[in-house]
Amino acid sequence: MNKPRYLVVDDENLLRENLALLLSSQEDCEVFQARNAYEALDILKKYPIDLALIDINMPGLSGLELLRIIRKDGYQIPVILMTGYPSLDLTVEALREGANDFLIKPFTSQQLLEIIARFKQKNKTSKSEYDDILELLKRKTQEQTLLFTISDRLIKCDSLSTLYDEIIKLQQEFIPSEEIVFYLFDQEKGVLIPTSWAGFKERPSEILIEEANPVSKSVRERLPYLIPQKDNEKATLIVPFLIRGEIFGAFVLCRQENFSREELFLANLIGERSAPLVENFILYESIVLNLHDALRALVKVLEAKDPYTKEHSERVTRYAVLLARELGLSDDEIECLRVAGHLHDIGKVGIPDAILLKPGRLTSDEFEIIKAHPLIGAEIVGHIGLLAEEAKIIKYHHERWDGKGYPTGLAGRDIPLLSRVLAVADAFDAMTSKRPYRPAMSFIDAIQEIKKGKGSQFDPEIVQIFVSIFQDLTRGEEDESRVVSSVVT
Ligand SMILES: [Fe+2]
Repeated sequence: MNKPRYLVVDDENLLRENLALLLSSQEDCEVFQARNAYEALDILKKYPIDLALIDINMPGLSGLELLRIIRKDGYQIPVILMTGYPSLDLTVEALREGANDFLIKPFTSQQLLEIIARFKQKNKTSKSEYDDILELLKRKTQEQTLLFTISDRLIKCDSLSTLYDEIIKLQQEFIPSEEIVFYLFDQEKGVLIPTSWAGFKERPSEILIEEANPVSKSVRERLPYLIPQKDNEKATLIVPFLIRGEIFGAFVLCRQENFSREELFLANLIGERSAPLVENFILYESIVLNLHDALRALVKVLEAKDPYTKEHSERVTRYAVLLARELGLSDDEIECLRVAGHLHDIGKVGIPDAILLKPGRLTSDEFEIIKAHPLIGAEIVGHIGLLAEEAKIIKYHHERWDGKGYPTGLAGRDIPLLSRVLAVADAFDAMTSKRPYRPAMSFIDAIQEIKKGKGSQFDPEIVQIFVSIFQDLTRGEEDESRVVSSVVT
C-alpha cells in the first residue's frame, strides 16, 4: 500500500513544522509543507495528496481562497481548515466552499489524529453527519474556553514585569512542571537572560546563544524541543518565544515525567497569545522613555542658558525622592515624582530670556510672567497624555500650604502630596544655590528657613521629615556638595 501523503499549509513556521513532525511520527507517511497558497498549489500539481491541512489566516491568498481554487480545479481531497479565530460566519463559509472539517488552534495532537483517522474510515463509519457536527461544536467550545482563559488572564496585566510573571504562572498551571524559566534574548550580547522563573532556589544562569546546549539550539533553530527523561536528567520542554517571527526568548520547563506533544502545543500557544501583548508593552515603554529623554533634553537646554540653575532639576529630584522614601511613598509615586522633579521647571521655556536671565531682582510685573511657568509646564508635559499625573504635580509645585501660592491658590491637603514634597525640595535647592544678587545660603541656614515656612509655606509633616533627614546628613559634614552627591536618587 502507498504511503499516505499529507500537505500542511501554514505561514507560521513553528506550527507547520510541529504538525509535520507530529504526522510523520505517527505513521510511515510523506508530509509536504507549504508556506503559502502558491506553494501549496505547486505541490498539489506535482503529487497526489491524500489530505490537506490548511491555515486560514495567511498573507497573500487566504486558506479559504486556496480551498476555493482547490475545489474549482476539481481536487476531491479532504481539506481540514485551521484557524485560531473561529466564528459562525467563517464556519458556514468554509463548509460552503467545501471544507471537510475544522481544527481550532490550539488543537491537541489527539484531536488532529482523530480527525485524520475519521477521514480514513469515512466510508465505513456509521456516524451521522449530525453527530459529527455535535462533536465538532463540543470540541470548539472546549478550545474556546481555554483560549479565553489564557487571553483574559494576560490582558489584565498592567506592566511588562507582571505580564512576564503571569505568562510563567499560566505555563505552570497548564503544564505542571518542577522548574520553569522564561528567558529573554539580549541580541547585542547574544545571551538568553532569565526574566521570570519558578522552582529555583537561585536565579537561573544566563545562556550564551552560541553555546552547544539544547536551549541555545532550540532558539537558534526556532524549533521547540521535547527532551525525554533519561537517567538522572529531568524531562525538558523548550519552546522558543517569537514576536513577528523574530526570536525574543524561550520558555524552558523541566520535570521528572515526560512532556507530551499536547503540552508542547499548549506552551507554544501561551507564548503566541502573549507575544502581541509583550510587544505592545515594549513599544509603550520605549515611547514613554523617548518622551522623557526629549523633555529632559529640553530642561538641560533651559538650564544651560542660565549658569545659576545648572543641574537645579537634578538636585531637586534627588531631595524630593529622598523625602518621598522617608514618607513611605510607593515605588510608583516615587517614579512619578522622579519624572516630575526633572521636568518641574520645563514651563520656563515659555518665559522670555530677558526676564528669565535677568541678573537683578524681578519687578512685580516680571514676577507675574514667571508665575505662568507651572501652568505652561503642565501643558507641555500633559499634552501627550502619557504623563498626566506628572503634569498635575508640576502644575501645583509653587502652591503654598496657606493658600498664598500660585497659580491657583490651592491650600493644605488640596495640593497634591507630591507637589508639596517637590515644593520643599525646590525651595531648599533655590536657597542653597548662588544667585547673581545673593550668595548661596549654607545648608544649616536653609534648613532653618524651611523650618520657618512650616505650616505657612510648606506642609508641616513634610518639613519635619525634611529637617530630620538633612540635619542628619549635614551633621559633621564640612563640604556641602558632598551631602548633595550623597543623596542618591
Ligand atoms: Fe518652579
